[in-house]
Amino acid sequence: MSNRRPLIAGNWKMHKTGKEAVEAAKALKALVAGVTSVEVMIAPTFTTLAQVSAEIATSPIALGAQNMHWEPKGAFTGEIAADMLVDAGCRYVILGHSERRQFFGETDQTVNKKIRAAVQSGLSPVFCIGESEAEREAGQTFSVLDKQIRKGLESFVLQDLQALVVAYEPVWAIGTGKTATKEQAQEVHAHLRAELGQMFGADFAQRMRILYGGSVKPSNVKELMAMPDVDGALVGGASLDPETFSQLVHYQS
Ligand code: PGA
Repeated sequence: MSNRRPLIAGNWKMHKTGKEAVEAAKALKALVAGVTSVEVMIAPTFTTLAQVSAEIATSPIALGAQNMHWEPKGAFTGEIAADMLVDAGCRYVILGHSERRQFFGETDQTVNKKIRAAVQSGLSPVFCIGESEAEREAGQTFSVLDKQIRKGLESFVLQDLQALVVAYEPVWAIGTGKTATKEQAQEVHAHLRAELGQMFGADFAQRMRILYGGSVKPSNVKELMAMPDVDGALVGGASLDPETFSQLVHYQS
């Protein structure tokens, strides 16, 4: 048994107005009240962060953002800095999500800069990596992931990464209804933990949480979470409805 506390994180992506977000947060707060064995995080849109933060202030639910810029301030129209996220109440920030890589030009290099900026501001980065379907079929899964993880964490030292969370999200499983099997998830998570062990030492790798993401839902969460190296889930679609998301948080019952 590992002593890594599971993290169930909801990525709301580009969904919910302020009113909808606050209502969902309020409902979730009631549905997960008293849960301590699992950490719960939700990542709403930038515009609703402060409102959601106020709503969950008295609950153990943590707030996360879905992206940020690496510079602390400046002439970067449309961007948000790490300290602004902290100011809005965030403890986490999702970085390098495949939708950012695919549609918004995110690269391993920009993810690396963002992780550094997040850490400097005291945010916990949720660093996303994942292979495409073509890469998996070509037998390149591990080499793709190794490159993403090595470039994303290049030039970091151990003490920078204490709050880091890694999320393995196979691109072919995101929003497709196609989940990795528990064996596929475990195989990759064990590989990533070994890789992190080589980079930063086995102790660190054992403490590090590795989440699985990609079509996690109430019907598959339990078997995924039963895998020894799966320490939580990053959930898109099934996080939008508080009742469904709370079933994921209560996966043990
Ligand atoms: P999904 O998204 O649960 O809708 O597949 C996961 C994610 O993008 O984090």
